[in-house]
Amino acid sequence: MRSACCSALLALLPLAGCGDTQTHLLPPGSIVNDTIPEPLTRIAGDAGAGADIFVSRDGGHCILCHQVDGLDAPFQGDVGPALTGVGSRLSPGQIRLRIVDYEVFRPGVLMPSYYRTHALYQVSDTNAGQPILPAQSVEDLVAYLSTLKD
Ligand code: HEC
Repeated sequence: MRSACCSALLALLPLAGCGDTQTHLLPPGSIVNDTIPEPLTRIAGDAGAGADIFVSRDGGHCILCHQVDGLDAPFQGDVGPALTGVGSRLSPGQIRLRIVDYEVFRPGVLMPSYYRTHALYQVSDTNAGQPILPAQSVEDLVAYLSTLKD
């Protein structure tokens, strides 16, 4: 029998196996050094949608901690580094891992792990077992941040 977690996973991640779902939603071997080279979904990320998720309180709300030059959004935070030009500094695979689970290579980092289901804090019962963002939103964010070139 398939667990509810696996069904949700299959909907999000057609390519994923259900092996190590307690620790990661990713198929084994997805993480290579500090990158996730392969997209999480078959549908390519949409940079415009990613920009919306970046600023949206209901989405990633990344501007709580990050500022981007030229982005039309008030109250951009500075807990994290400015992401202006991040597409020149980091590859899409590097950006993907930082959004999915920065703690993989930097334990204790202040940035939330947006695409994992273990060790999340303050998760309501209705959201238990769900990552903060669905895989497609992660891909949209990767597409958006990759357009931010110096
Ligand atoms: C609670 C604050 C916080 C939030 C919210 C947050 N981040 Fe971060 N982020 C950080 C911090 C702190 C770092 C730097 C970590 C380090 O280098 O030790 C960082 C680093 C990054 C980096 C790497 C930047 C670089 O130049 O190396 C990327 C990419 C990034 N964040 C994307 C995002 C995205 C996309 C979101 C929203 C989905 C987000 N962050 C939400 C705090 C945050």
